[in-house]
Amino acid sequence: MSTGPSGRKPNLAVVGATGAVGTVMLGILSERADVWGEIRLVASARSAGRKLIVRGEETEVVALEEEAFDGIDVAMFDVPDEVSARWAPIAAAKGVVVVDNSGAFRMDADVPLVVPEVNPHAVRVRPRGIIANPNCTTLSMIVAIGALHAEFGLSELIVSSYQAVSGAGKEGVDTLRSQLAAVAGTELGTAPGDVRRAVGDTGPFPAPMALNVVPFAGSLREDGWTSEELKVRNESRKILGLPELPVTATCVRVPVITTHSLTVHARFEKEVTVGRAHDILRSAPGVVLCDNPAEGEFPTPADAVGTDPTWVGRVRRSMDDARALELFVCGDNLRKGAALNTAQIAEVVAAELTSS
Ligand SMILES: NC(=O)c1ccc[n+]([C@@H]2O[C@H](COP(=O)([O-])OP(=O)(O)OC[C@H]3O[C@@H](n4cnc5c(N)ncnc54)[C@H](OP(=O)(O)O)[C@@H]3O)[C@@H](O)[C@H]2O)c1
Repeated sequence: MSTGPSGRKPNLAVVGATGAVGTVMLGILSERADVWGEIRLVASARSAGRKLIVRGEETEVVALEEEAFDGIDVAMFDVPDEVSARWAPIAAAKGVVVVDNSGAFRMDADVPLVVPEVNPHAVRVRPRGIIANPNCTTLSMIVAIGALHAEFGLSELIVSSYQAVSGAGKEGVDTLRSQLAAVAGTELGTAPGDVRRAVGDTGPFPAPMALNVVPFAGSLREDGWTSEELKVRNESRKILGLPELPVTATCVRVPVITTHSLTVHARFEKEVTVGRAHDILRSAPGVVLCDNPAEGEFPTPADAVGTDPTWVGRVRRSMDDARALELFVCGDNLRKGAALNTAQIAEVVAAELTSS
Protein backbone atom coordinates (compact mmCIF):
# COMPACT_ATOMS: atom_id res chain seq x y z
CA MET A 1 0.00 0.00 0.00
CA SER A 2 1.23 3.53 -0.77
CA THR A 3 3.00 5.24 2.10
CA GLY A 4 2.05 8.62 0.74
CA PRO A 5 3.72 11.30 -1.31
CA SER A 6 5.28 13.40 1.44
CA GLY A 7 5.67 17.04 0.52
CA ARG A 8 3.63 17.00 -2.69
CA LYS A 9 0.01 16.81 -3.75
CA PRO A 10 -1.05 13.24 -4.64
CA ASN A 11 -1.63 12.35 -8.29
CA LEU A 12 -5.10 11.15 -9.30
CA ALA A 13 -6.34 8.93 -12.14
CA VAL A 14 -10.00 9.08 -13.20
CA VAL A 15 -10.72 5.77 -14.91
CA GLY A 16 -13.93 5.96 -16.98
CA ALA A 17 -13.56 9.73 -17.45
CA THR A 18 -15.72 9.70 -20.61
CA GLY A 19 -18.83 8.05 -19.07
CA ALA A 20 -21.96 9.44 -17.36
CA VAL A 21 -20.36 9.36 -13.90
CA GLY A 22 -16.91 10.34 -15.23
CA THR A 23 -18.29 13.43 -16.93
CA VAL A 24 -19.90 14.64 -13.69
CA MET A 25 -16.68 13.76 -11.86
CA LEU A 26 -14.63 16.12 -14.06
CA GLY A 27 -17.03 18.95 -13.18
CA ILE A 28 -16.85 18.13 -9.46
CA LEU A 29 -13.03 17.96 -9.51
CA SER A 30 -13.02 21.38 -11.18
CA GLU A 31 -15.29 22.89 -8.50
CA ARG A 32 -13.89 21.46 -5.27
CA ALA A 33 -10.78 22.50 -3.32
CA ASP A 34 -7.83 21.42 -5.46
CA VAL A 35 -6.02 18.76 -3.44
CA TRP A 36 -4.56 16.96 -6.46
CA GLY A 37 -1.27 17.17 -8.32
CA GLU A 38 -1.68 15.64 -11.79
CA ILE A 39 -5.18 14.49 -12.80
CA ARG A 40 -4.86 11.77 -15.45
CA LEU A 41 -7.93 10.83 -17.50
CA VAL A 42 -8.31 7.18 -18.48
CA ALA A 43 -10.95 5.34 -20.55
CA SER A 44 -11.12 2.52 -23.09
CA ALA A 45 -8.79 2.43 -26.10
CA ARG A 46 -11.79 3.75 -28.10
CA SER A 47 -11.47 7.12 -26.34
CA ALA A 48 -7.66 7.41 -26.24
CA GLY A 49 -6.57 10.78 -27.64
CA ARG A 50 -9.90 12.52 -26.92
CA LYS A 51 -9.46 15.82 -25.10
CA LEU A 52 -11.63 16.66 -22.07
CA ILE A 53 -11.62 19.68 -19.78
CA VAL A 54 -10.77 19.30 -16.08
CA ARG A 55 -9.80 22.18 -13.76
CA GLY A 56 -10.12 24.42 -16.83
CA GLU A 57 -7.36 22.58 -18.68
CA GLU A 58 -7.68 20.47 -21.82
CA THR A 59 -6.42 17.01 -20.90
CA GLU A 60 -5.87 14.06 -23.23
CA VAL A 61 -7.54 10.74 -22.40
CA VAL A 62 -5.19 7.74 -22.20
CA ALA A 63 -6.12 4.08 -22.68
CA LEU A 64 -6.55 1.79 -19.68
CA GLU A 65 -3.34 -0.22 -19.43
CA GLU A 66 -0.88 -0.89 -16.61
CA GLU A 67 1.30 2.12 -17.47
CA ALA A 68 -1.71 4.41 -16.96
CA PHE A 69 -1.09 4.01 -13.20
CA ASP A 70 2.62 4.93 -13.23
CA GLY A 71 3.20 7.76 -10.73
CA ILE A 72 -0.46 7.71 -9.60
CA ASP A 73 -1.37 7.69 -5.87
CA VAL A 74 -5.18 7.45 -5.98
CA ALA A 75 -7.42 6.11 -8.77
CA MET A 76 -11.18 6.53 -9.06
CA PHE A 77 -12.86 3.80 -11.09
CA ASP A 78 -16.10 4.84 -12.85
CA VAL A 79 -16.31 1.86 -15.22
CA PRO A 80 -18.49 -1.29 -15.59
CA ASP A 81 -18.19 -4.00 -12.92
CA GLU A 82 -16.10 -6.37 -15.04
CA VAL A 83 -13.58 -3.65 -15.91
CA SER A 84 -13.16 -2.72 -12.23
CA ALA A 85 -12.96 -6.39 -11.21
CA ARG A 86 -10.02 -6.86 -13.57
CA TRP A 87 -8.18 -3.54 -13.27
CA ALA A 88 -8.65 -2.32 -9.68
CA PRO A 89 -6.43 -5.11 -8.26
CA ILE A 90 -3.80 -4.33 -10.92
CA ALA A 91 -3.74 -0.68 -9.86
CA ALA A 92 -3.74 -1.62 -6.15
CA ALA A 93 -0.79 -3.98 -6.73
CA LYS A 94 1.15 -0.94 -7.99
CA GLY A 95 0.52 0.84 -4.66
CA VAL A 96 -2.39 2.95 -5.92
CA VAL A 97 -5.33 3.45 -3.52
CA VAL A 98 -8.44 2.62 -5.57
CA VAL A 99 -11.86 4.19 -4.93
CA ASP A 100 -14.26 2.03 -6.95
CA ASN A 101 -17.71 3.12 -8.03
CA SER A 102 -18.77 -0.21 -9.54
CA GLY A 103 -20.50 -3.09 -7.80
CA ALA A 104 -17.45 -5.37 -8.08
CA PHE A 105 -16.11 -5.06 -4.51
CA ARG A 106 -18.88 -3.53 -2.38
CA MET A 107 -19.71 -6.65 -0.41
CA ASP A 108 -16.09 -7.92 -0.16
CA ALA A 109 -15.31 -8.22 3.58
CA ASP A 110 -11.81 -6.80 2.93
CA VAL A 111 -13.12 -3.71 1.12
CA PRO A 112 -14.69 -0.88 3.15
CA LEU A 113 -17.94 0.63 1.81
CA VAL A 114 -17.78 4.30 2.69
CA VAL A 115 -20.04 7.33 2.99
CA PRO A 116 -17.89 10.09 4.52
CA GLU A 117 -20.80 11.63 6.50
CA VAL A 118 -21.68 8.23 8.03
CA ASN A 119 -18.58 5.99 8.39
CA PRO A 120 -15.44 7.98 7.40
CA HIS A 121 -13.26 5.94 9.81
CA ALA A 122 -13.77 2.86 7.56
CA VAL A 123 -11.51 4.40 4.88
CA ARG A 124 -8.34 3.53 6.80
CA VAL A 125 -9.00 -0.21 6.97
CA ARG A 126 -8.45 -1.33 3.35
CA PRO A 127 -6.48 -4.59 3.24
CA ARG A 128 -6.86 -4.87 -0.55
CA GLY A 129 -5.97 -1.24 -1.19
CA ILE A 130 -9.53 -0.78 -2.54
CA ILE A 131 -12.37 1.33 -1.10
CA ALA A 132 -15.87 0.89 -2.51
CA ASN A 133 -18.45 3.56 -3.22
CA PRO A 134 -22.04 2.44 -2.51
CA ASN A 135 -24.68 2.17 -5.24
CA CYS A 136 -26.61 5.30 -6.17
CA THR A 137 -29.98 4.27 -4.69
CA THR A 138 -28.52 3.57 -1.24
CA LEU A 139 -26.41 6.73 -1.41
CA SER A 140 -29.39 8.88 -2.30
CA MET A 141 -30.92 8.26 1.18
CA ILE A 142 -28.23 6.95 3.53
CA VAL A 143 -26.83 10.30 4.74
CA ALA A 144 -30.28 11.28 6.09
CA ILE A 145 -30.94 7.80 7.47
CA GLY A 146 -27.49 7.69 9.13
CA ALA A 147 -28.18 10.99 10.94
CA LEU A 148 -31.55 9.73 12.24
CA HIS A 149 -30.00 6.38 13.19
CA ALA A 150 -27.33 8.12 15.31
CA GLU A 151 -30.11 9.68 17.40
CA PHE A 152 -32.94 7.14 17.46
CA GLY A 153 -31.27 3.76 16.65
CA LEU A 154 -32.58 2.26 13.41
CA SER A 155 -34.45 -1.06 13.74
CA GLU A 156 -36.10 -1.49 10.30
CA LEU A 157 -36.10 0.12 6.86
CA ILE A 158 -38.81 -0.23 4.19
CA VAL A 159 -38.20 1.80 1.04
CA SER A 160 -39.58 2.29 -2.45
CA SER A 161 -37.38 3.99 -5.01
CA TYR A 162 -38.29 6.22 -7.95
CA GLN A 163 -35.08 5.93 -9.96
CA ALA A 164 -33.82 8.15 -12.77
CA VAL A 165 -32.78 6.72 -16.15
CA SER A 166 -29.20 8.03 -15.85
CA GLY A 167 -28.72 5.27 -13.26
CA ALA A 168 -28.42 3.09 -16.39
CA GLY A 169 -25.60 5.28 -17.78
CA LYS A 170 -25.52 7.33 -20.97
CA GLU A 171 -27.52 4.66 -22.81
CA GLY A 172 -30.38 5.10 -20.32
CA VAL A 173 -30.48 8.87 -20.87
CA ASP A 174 -30.34 8.53 -24.67
CA THR A 175 -33.19 6.00 -24.57
CA LEU A 176 -35.54 8.22 -22.54
CA ARG A 177 -34.75 11.32 -24.61
CA SER A 178 -35.52 9.56 -27.91
CA GLN A 179 -38.69 8.01 -26.46
CA LEU A 180 -39.87 11.43 -25.22
CA ALA A 181 -39.33 12.80 -28.74
CA ALA A 182 -41.45 9.93 -30.14
CA VAL A 183 -44.42 10.63 -27.83
CA ALA A 184 -44.25 14.44 -27.60
CA GLY A 185 -47.34 16.17 -29.01
CA THR A 186 -49.26 12.90 -29.48
CA GLU A 187 -52.35 11.54 -27.73
CA LEU A 188 -50.45 8.39 -26.72
CA GLY A 189 -50.92 6.88 -23.28
CA THR A 190 -54.64 6.14 -23.62
CA ALA A 191 -54.75 2.56 -24.95
CA PRO A 192 -52.91 -0.63 -23.86
CA GLY A 193 -49.58 -0.94 -25.68
CA ASP A 194 -49.84 2.32 -27.65
CA VAL A 195 -46.71 3.81 -26.02
CA ARG A 196 -44.81 0.53 -26.39
CA ARG A 197 -45.56 0.38 -30.14
CA ALA A 198 -44.61 4.04 -30.64
CA VAL A 199 -41.22 3.93 -28.89
CA GLY A 200 -40.05 0.59 -30.34
CA ASP A 201 -36.66 -0.24 -28.83
CA THR A 202 -36.73 0.00 -25.00
CA GLY A 203 -32.91 0.21 -24.75
CA PRO A 204 -31.51 -0.95 -21.38
CA PHE A 205 -35.01 -1.01 -19.80
CA PRO A 206 -37.53 -3.88 -19.79
CA ALA A 207 -40.45 -1.59 -20.76
CA PRO A 208 -40.98 1.91 -22.23
CA MET A 209 -39.78 4.70 -19.95
CA ALA A 210 -41.69 7.59 -21.56
CA LEU A 211 -45.17 8.13 -20.03
CA ASN A 212 -44.58 5.11 -17.78
CA VAL A 213 -43.21 3.75 -14.49
CA VAL A 214 -41.37 0.43 -14.49
CA PRO A 215 -41.25 -1.71 -11.32
CA PHE A 216 -37.91 -3.31 -12.16
CA ALA A 217 -34.31 -2.03 -11.89
CA GLY A 218 -31.19 -4.15 -12.26
CA SER A 219 -31.37 -7.88 -12.95
CA LEU A 220 -33.61 -10.64 -11.61
CA ARG A 221 -32.30 -12.55 -8.58
CA GLU A 222 -33.63 -15.29 -6.30
CA ASP A 223 -37.26 -15.28 -5.16
CA GLY A 224 -38.28 -12.40 -7.41
CA TRP A 225 -35.99 -9.72 -5.92
CA THR A 226 -33.88 -7.54 -8.23
CA SER A 227 -30.15 -6.91 -7.93
CA GLU A 228 -30.89 -3.25 -7.17
CA GLU A 229 -33.21 -4.20 -4.28
CA LEU A 230 -30.60 -6.54 -2.81
CA LYS A 231 -27.95 -3.80 -3.10
CA VAL A 232 -30.10 -1.39 -1.06
CA ARG A 233 -30.53 -4.08 1.62
CA ASN A 234 -26.95 -5.35 1.78
CA GLU A 235 -25.17 -2.03 1.38
CA SER A 236 -27.34 -0.16 3.92
CA ARG A 237 -26.54 -2.89 6.47
CA LYS A 238 -22.79 -2.71 5.75
CA ILE A 239 -22.51 1.11 5.83
CA LEU A 240 -24.53 1.45 9.04
CA GLY A 241 -22.73 -1.50 10.68
CA LEU A 242 -26.08 -3.24 11.30
CA PRO A 243 -25.64 -6.69 9.65
CA GLU A 244 -29.03 -7.99 10.85
CA LEU A 245 -31.10 -4.88 10.02
CA PRO A 246 -34.44 -5.83 8.39
CA VAL A 247 -34.48 -3.98 5.04
CA THR A 248 -37.10 -4.27 2.31
CA ALA A 249 -36.77 -2.38 -0.97
CA THR A 250 -38.93 -2.12 -4.08
CA CYS A 251 -37.03 -0.39 -6.88
CA VAL A 252 -38.99 1.43 -9.58
CA ARG A 253 -37.68 3.30 -12.63
CA VAL A 254 -39.42 6.58 -13.54
CA PRO A 255 -39.07 8.96 -16.52
CA VAL A 256 -36.66 11.34 -14.77
CA ILE A 257 -33.24 12.04 -16.34
CA THR A 258 -31.19 12.43 -13.15
CA THR A 259 -31.97 12.31 -9.38
CA HIS A 260 -33.28 9.31 -7.56
CA SER A 261 -36.15 9.68 -5.07
CA LEU A 262 -37.22 7.30 -2.31
CA THR A 263 -40.12 6.96 0.08
CA VAL A 264 -38.76 5.66 3.38
CA HIS A 265 -40.50 3.99 6.31
CA ALA A 266 -37.83 3.95 9.03
CA ARG A 267 -38.54 2.26 12.36
CA PHE A 268 -36.37 3.06 15.39
CA GLU A 269 -35.62 1.72 18.87
CA LYS A 270 -36.70 5.01 20.47
CA GLU A 271 -39.92 6.98 20.08
CA VAL A 272 -39.66 9.75 17.50
CA THR A 273 -41.18 13.18 17.05
CA VAL A 274 -41.31 15.19 13.84
CA GLY A 275 -39.82 18.19 15.67
CA ARG A 276 -36.75 16.29 16.81
CA ALA A 277 -36.37 14.63 13.38
CA HIS A 278 -36.51 18.09 11.78
CA ASP A 279 -33.78 19.37 14.15
CA ILE A 280 -31.52 16.41 13.35
CA LEU A 281 -32.02 16.68 9.59
CA ARG A 282 -31.59 20.47 9.63
CA SER A 283 -28.17 20.20 11.29
CA ALA A 284 -26.91 17.03 9.54
CA PRO A 285 -23.96 17.69 7.18
CA GLY A 286 -24.94 16.96 3.59
CA VAL A 287 -28.70 17.13 4.24
CA VAL A 288 -31.20 19.87 3.37
CA LEU A 289 -34.60 19.79 5.05
CA CYS A 290 -37.32 20.99 2.67
CA ASP A 291 -40.55 20.27 4.51
CA ASN A 292 -43.36 22.79 4.37
CA PRO A 293 -46.12 21.09 2.37
CA ALA A 294 -48.64 23.81 3.24
CA GLU A 295 -46.52 26.13 1.07
CA GLY A 296 -45.90 23.44 -1.56
CA GLU A 297 -42.36 22.88 -0.27
CA PHE A 298 -41.04 19.36 -0.64
CA PRO A 299 -38.12 17.95 -2.63
CA THR A 300 -38.58 16.91 -6.26
CA PRO A 301 -35.98 15.61 -8.73
CA ALA A 302 -36.54 18.64 -10.98
CA ASP A 303 -35.35 20.92 -8.14
CA ALA A 304 -32.70 18.66 -6.59
CA VAL A 305 -30.86 17.71 -9.80
CA GLY A 306 -27.36 19.16 -10.12
CA THR A 307 -27.06 19.82 -6.37
CA ASP A 308 -24.89 18.04 -3.81
CA PRO A 309 -27.10 17.44 -0.73
CA THR A 310 -29.66 14.82 0.17
CA TRP A 311 -33.03 16.62 0.18
CA VAL A 312 -35.61 15.45 2.74
CA GLY A 313 -39.30 16.37 3.05
CA ARG A 314 -42.77 15.04 3.89
CA VAL A 315 -41.49 14.02 7.34
CA ARG A 316 -44.33 12.40 9.29
CA ARG A 317 -44.59 10.17 12.33
CA SER A 318 -46.31 6.93 11.36
CA MET A 319 -49.96 7.06 12.41
CA ASP A 320 -49.87 3.58 13.98
CA ASP A 321 -46.31 3.48 15.31
CA ALA A 322 -44.71 6.14 17.55
CA ARG A 323 -41.26 4.71 16.71
CA ALA A 324 -41.49 5.11 12.94
CA LEU A 325 -40.99 7.98 10.52
CA GLU A 326 -42.16 8.38 6.93
CA LEU A 327 -39.92 10.48 4.64
CA PHE A 328 -39.50 11.48 1.01
CA VAL A 329 -35.86 11.81 -0.04
CA CYS A 330 -34.21 13.05 -3.27
CA GLY A 331 -30.53 12.83 -4.21
CA ASP A 332 -28.70 13.44 -7.48
CA ASN A 333 -27.63 9.92 -8.47
CA LEU A 334 -24.65 11.14 -10.48
CA ARG A 335 -23.37 13.55 -7.80
CA LYS A 336 -23.85 12.28 -4.19
CA GLY A 337 -25.07 8.98 -5.71
CA ALA A 338 -21.77 8.45 -7.51
CA ALA A 339 -19.13 11.04 -8.38
CA LEU A 340 -19.39 13.34 -5.35
CA ASN A 341 -19.19 10.54 -2.80
CA THR A 342 -16.21 9.06 -4.67
CA ALA A 343 -14.51 12.47 -4.72
CA GLN A 344 -15.16 12.90 -0.97
CA ILE A 345 -13.65 9.47 -0.22
CA ALA A 346 -10.64 10.24 -2.42
CA GLU A 347 -10.14 13.54 -0.57
CA VAL A 348 -10.11 11.69 2.78
CA VAL A 349 -7.39 9.42 1.33
CA ALA A 350 -5.47 12.41 -0.07
CA ALA A 351 -5.47 14.05 3.38
CA GLU A 352 -4.21 10.80 4.90
CA LEU A 353 -1.45 10.40 2.29
CA THR A 354 -0.20 13.96 2.62
CA SER A 355 -0.20 13.79 6.44
CA SER A 356 1.55 10.39 6.69
N1 LIG B 1 -25.02 6.14 -13.50
C1 LIG B 1 -25.16 6.10 -12.19
O1 LIG B 1 -26.12 6.68 -11.59
C2 LIG B 1 -24.18 5.36 -11.35
C3 LIG B 1 -24.22 5.58 -9.98
C4 LIG B 1 -23.33 4.90 -9.16
C5 LIG B 1 -22.42 4.04 -9.72
N2 LIG B 1 -22.40 3.83 -11.06
C6 LIG B 1 -21.41 2.89 -11.56
O2 LIG B 1 -20.33 3.65 -12.14
C7 LIG B 1 -19.77 2.92 -13.22
C8 LIG B 1 -19.83 3.78 -14.48
O3 LIG B 1 -21.20 4.03 -14.80
P1 LIG B 1 -21.66 5.08 -15.92
O4 LIG B 1 -23.12 5.22 -15.69
O5 LIG B 1 -20.78 6.29 -15.92
O6 LIG B 1 -21.36 4.20 -17.26
P2 LIG B 1 -21.13 4.71 -18.76
O7 LIG B 1 -21.77 6.03 -19.00
O8 LIG B 1 -21.51 3.56 -19.62
O9 LIG B 1 -19.51 4.92 -18.85
C9 LIG B 1 -18.62 3.83 -18.78
C10 LIG B 1 -17.16 4.31 -18.72
O10 LIG B 1 -16.33 3.15 -18.63
C11 LIG B 1 -15.38 3.16 -19.69
N3 LIG B 1 -15.12 1.78 -20.13
C12 LIG B 1 -16.02 0.87 -20.56
N4 LIG B 1 -15.39 -0.29 -20.90
C13 LIG B 1 -14.07 -0.07 -20.67
C14 LIG B 1 -12.91 -0.87 -20.83
N5 LIG B 1 -12.98 -2.14 -21.28
N6 LIG B 1 -11.71 -0.33 -20.51
C15 LIG B 1 -11.62 0.95 -20.06
N7 LIG B 1 -12.69 1.75 -19.89
C16 LIG B 1 -13.90 1.24 -20.18
C17 LIG B 1 -16.04 3.96 -20.80
O11 LIG B 1 -15.03 4.44 -21.67
P3 LIG B 1 -15.34 4.68 -23.25
O12 LIG B 1 -16.12 5.97 -23.32
O13 LIG B 1 -13.98 4.80 -23.83
O14 LIG B 1 -16.12 3.50 -23.73
C18 LIG B 1 -16.71 5.07 -19.97
O15 LIG B 1 -15.75 6.04 -19.62
C19 LIG B 1 -20.57 1.62 -13.32
O16 LIG B 1 -19.92 0.60 -12.59
C20 LIG B 1 -21.88 1.98 -12.66
O17 LIG B 1 -22.54 0.84 -12.13
C21 LIG B 1 -23.24 4.48 -11.88
